[in-house]
Amino acid sequence: MQPIRIAPSILSADFARLGEEVRAIDAAGADWIHVDVMDNHFVPNLTIGPMVVKALRPHSAKPFDVHLMVSPADALVEAFAEAGADILSVHPEAGPHLHRTLMRIRALGKKAGVVLNPATPIGAIDHVMDLLDLILVMSVNPGFGGQSFIESALPKIEQLRRRIDVSGKPIELEVDGGVDASNAGRLAAAGATVLVAGTASFRGGPSAYAANIAALKAAG
Ligand code: DX5
Ligand code: ZN
Repeated sequence: MQPIRIAPSILSADFARLGEEVRAIDAAGADWIHVDVMDNHFVPNLTIGPMVVKALRPHSAKPFDVHLMVSPADALVEAFAEAGADILSVHPEAGPHLHRTLMRIRALGKKAGVVLNPATPIGAIDHVMDLLDLILVMSVNPGFGGQSFIESALPKIEQLRRRIDVSGKPIELEVDGGVDASNAGRLAAAGATVLVAGTASFRGGPSAYAANIAALKAAG
């Protein structure tokens, strides 16, 4: 089994020094760079657009894992792909046509993901498994960093692990929200392959990043 990979969410970085922050978190051992895109419509917050992703792209060669919390998503998929996203994940509720959106992401040569909110049933992926490179399980309600981990994400991850294994497809299983060293081990044991961590990666400033990520990996 591959060791657990960590995708620090730059939502918890210092936005006034974002390029430096991406370089620092990359050097500290980040496996992917998680970018939270929020539109003040699908979620009650407003964050990062394609221009920022484009500006950050030269600062890291790690995969840019772009989590789209925007509705509708289709109109922005191409702009984020051109800006340098490697993985683009969408919420089924953001609609209107999940299958079409995933096809569009794949047609742009990018990896496609579906994000399941805490109350979104696993069945949301039933008819799109063939189009998936990633399933992202939300362990908080989307919109803000620094929220508490919702325990019901764990049995959901276990069920998805079984489903992915039965499918035989190389689909990553990622978890997002309230992840820290106290739950990373349980998440890895449940079958997660990638952990998003905002607060837990960026707390303490740049001198702490390497230790923060090492602690998450050691716990996972
Ligand atoms: C929430 C975002 C998360 C968030 C995670 O909507 O999708 O990526 O930034 O932050 P922490 O790790 O602080 O819960
Ligand atoms: Zn996220």
